[in-house]
Amino acid sequence: MNPKDRFLSACKRKKVDRPPVWLMRQAGRYLPEYRLLRARHSFLEICKTPELACEATLQPLQRFEMDAAILFSDILIVPEAMGQKLSFDENKGPLLTPVLKSPADLAGLKKTDPAAAFNFVYDAISLLKKKLPKDVPLIGFAGGPWTLASYMTGDKLDEWLKKYPEDLIKLLDILADVVAEYLHRQQMAGCDVIQIFDTWSGELSKNDFKKLVQPNLKKIISKSRVDAPFIVYSRKCSHIMGELADTGADVISIDPRTKMEAAIKTVGDNVAIQGNIDPKVLLKTPGVVKEEVSRLLSKIQNRPGHIINSGHGVLPTTPVECVAAFVEAVHAFSYSNK
Ligand code: CP3
Repeated sequence: MNPKDRFLSACKRKKVDRPPVWLMRQAGRYLPEYRLLRARHSFLEICKTPELACEATLQPLQRFEMDAAILFSDILIVPEAMGQKLSFDENKGPLLTPVLKSPADLAGLKKTDPAAAFNFVYDAISLLKKKLPKDVPLIGFAGGPWTLASYMTGDKLDEWLKKYPEDLIKLLDILADVVAEYLHRQQMAGCDVIQIFDTWSGELSKNDFKKLVQPNLKKIISKSRVDAPFIVYSRKCSHIMGELADTGADVISIDPRTKMEAAIKTVGDNVAIQGNIDPKVLLKTPGVVKEEVSRLLSKIQNRPGHIINSGHGVLPTTPVECVAAFVEAVHAFSYSNK
């Protein structure tokens, strides 16, 4: 089976020879060749220059037999296009300024037309489609509205929810419209699969998730879908598995704390599951990595509809040999009833 057939079939819970494998942040600072690229260019310069984004996307595929490439970009490109300045602080992570402090600040956001604002992304996708082997699928992505709003307000969504719930819903709706159009255009440019990173939505109670997140995820998926399968990721998602499965997503990407057996039980045969090796395991030794992958594979047994991945991004100090061991361990597995 080629990687594209394997990946697309797994998303649809069809039989495959073995589960496909890739990693969140598979292009990044753990790779010496990425660090070399970063010595010459800033992170945003790489994101915004199609040739450089293309080079970074391809780097992990030149080393490992991943079953998918993921476009090199960032979820915060969207708020940046809406007028906030994006910078990265060594200790605090990404910062968007000026922070949205109150509803009055919403007026300062630019009306963003995804057809024009993200041409560099669509150009990178077109270029990647030329450079990638035809049988390797390309994953496009965007942040979910809740996660984007969390960064845009400087992690003050609890306060917004208490003080300005209606304005918060307005902001989430605006973001959902931009993200839907953006993801539609990524598919038109050539992406074969889409992942929505709604990292911080798992912090919400089930009820708040149903009220504030689920309707927008449903809207984004139904409005933007061309024919790509959709993967939805939320960190700390064990209590909202059923709600995530009910967004129209084909695949739920689970974090390391969510128990695979419980996740399978909750979603039944409705959706595929992606995950969920702890990135900290990849800091250990190739032997430990292989054991952990075997343990994970034994939990999924012969259930179709699994993509092997980390539960969140690969850490910058990860040894390259451990990533190689991770990929090899999945390659060595074979469904017994294929
Ligand atoms: O997975 C990939 O290889 C594709 C590229 C990708 C990046 N960010 C590159 C990146 C993807 C899919 C993302 C998604 C993203 N970005 C998320 C959702 C997933 C998650 O981790 O929860 C979030 C919350 C962001 C926002 C963001 N961007 C953070 C929190 C950081 C800092 C963390 C860090 O590792 O430094 C970034 C910067 C960033 N995005 C880097 C990369 C490779 C590091 C930048 C550098 O080279 O210095």
